[in-house]
Amino acid sequence: MSIYYIMNKVYHQNYKKFWEGQQNSKPPVSENNWFQRSAEEASLLIEGYAETIVDVGCGDCIITCLLAEKFKKIYGLDFSNSMLESAKINIVNKGISNIHLIHADLLQIDEVITEKVDAIICSAVIQHISIDDLNLFIKKCKNILNEDGKIIIIGIPNLKCRDLYLINFYKNNSYMSLQSILYKYLKLKLHIFYLKLSKKKYFFYDGIGNWYLTSVFKEIGDKNNLVTEFYNSNFISYSYRFNVIFKHN
Ligand SMILES: C[S@@+](CC[C@H](N)C(=O)[O-])C[C@H]1O[C@@H](n2cnc3c(N)ncnc32)[C@H](O)[C@@H]1O
Repeated sequence: MSIYYIMNKVYHQNYKKFWEGQQNSKPPVSENNWFQRSAEEASLLIEGYAETIVDVGCGDCIITCLLAEKFKKIYGLDFSNSMLESAKINIVNKGISNIHLIHADLLQIDEVITEKVDAIICSAVIQHISIDDLNLFIKKCKNILNEDGKIIIIGIPNLKCRDLYLINFYKNNSYMSLQSILYKYLKLKLHIFYLKLSKKKYFFYDGIGNWYLTSVFKEIGDKNNLVTEFYNSNFISYSYRFNVIFKHN
């Protein structure tokens, strides 16, 4: 058993504990109509005929509810009881009857869903799982995916863009010169260095989690004999993120 494996398990437990105490999905404050736009993005990527879909890490089901009018049946899967309690309230309040909630970890997807599905969407979840778990998750999704089905991962933070994200490059709609980028980046690094020196236990967290290179998804697709497609996000201030679709070969 490697140290990496143990750290991953500890991290997973802590992350689960965090979500166990939450009642809502925590959309980014900077985005208006976040849920509507995410649901639109998911629908656009699903494109074509789909009846049964799964929303993995559905949280309080705001996006799931928006998708419910477009598809016949939706499974909402989440490992947090408190999030699923909020989901139940939202579903009842909206009078929706085609969402089926499942309390499970995403790695149990092919045990708890026993029919083939047309699309599996996963929005704002994978930043907190390891590459090994991501690979396993895709493998398991494949087991329940119809021949023409799609696995759609939405809002993946692109590692190539992380430094620019940290200096608020994407928040700002105005022109930023290379000089100003370098200046802001240096200032940020010095600030972090100072905090690390002055506070012994200081740990820098960027508020996002794991950032990915697109090549990781290509490798996972190839390993699982799936076709991998990449799409940019439709959100302008979200252009540091990308979306991925996996399909059967
Ligand atoms: C940021 S919220 C996103 C909710 C929704 N998909 C959205 O885009 O608004 C992340 C959700 O993923 C769930 N989640 C995270 N890791 C999970 C896992 N390993 N298995 C199942 N659910 C998970 C959390 O409980 C939480 O409800």
